[in-house]
Amino acid sequence: MIFVTRKAQFSASHRLFNPTFSEEQNEATFDKCNNFFGHGHNYVLEVTVKGLPDPLTGYVIDLKQLKRILDERIVDKVDHKHLNYDVDFLHGIIPTVENLCVAFWQELAGHLPSGELHAIKLWESDHNVAEYFGAPIEIPRYAIGQETQRQGVTL
Ligand code: NI
Repeated sequence: MIFVTRKAQFSASHRLFNPTFSEEQNEATFDKCNNFFGHGHNYVLEVTVKGLPDPLTGYVIDLKQLKRILDERIVDKVDHKHLNYDVDFLHGIIPTVENLCVAFWQELAGHLPSGELHAIKLWESDHNVAEYFGAPIEIPRYAIGQETQRQGVTL
């Protein structure tokens, strides 16, 4: 089995909070990441596909094709966006680096022309990274809307 990896980068903003928590609970749980108007990260995404090299091409997967699929299904949808509000497939998900890995997996799995999705690794910063291998996980989706009103501010 050969493992091939394609790397992509994107910049996005997010805010970590749970709309079922009080302001105090959100503050205590998410601290600076709970900043009302969000904050940004330069993310690095690594997608690993496994398989055997095709005898005619030597490819597990054509990395140009993998780039195109990654761009279409993930990068173009999240780059320069607010992950809490702008991205359909993330709607209602708390956009931690962990949850993003799972959501990205669900966007990619079953959409590769060859090979099999093996791992999604997402760097949120030089210090924080999550890696996911596709074990079934259900991520809760929360109703969003009321959190956009606070202290007289309406988004
Ligand atoms: Ni953050």
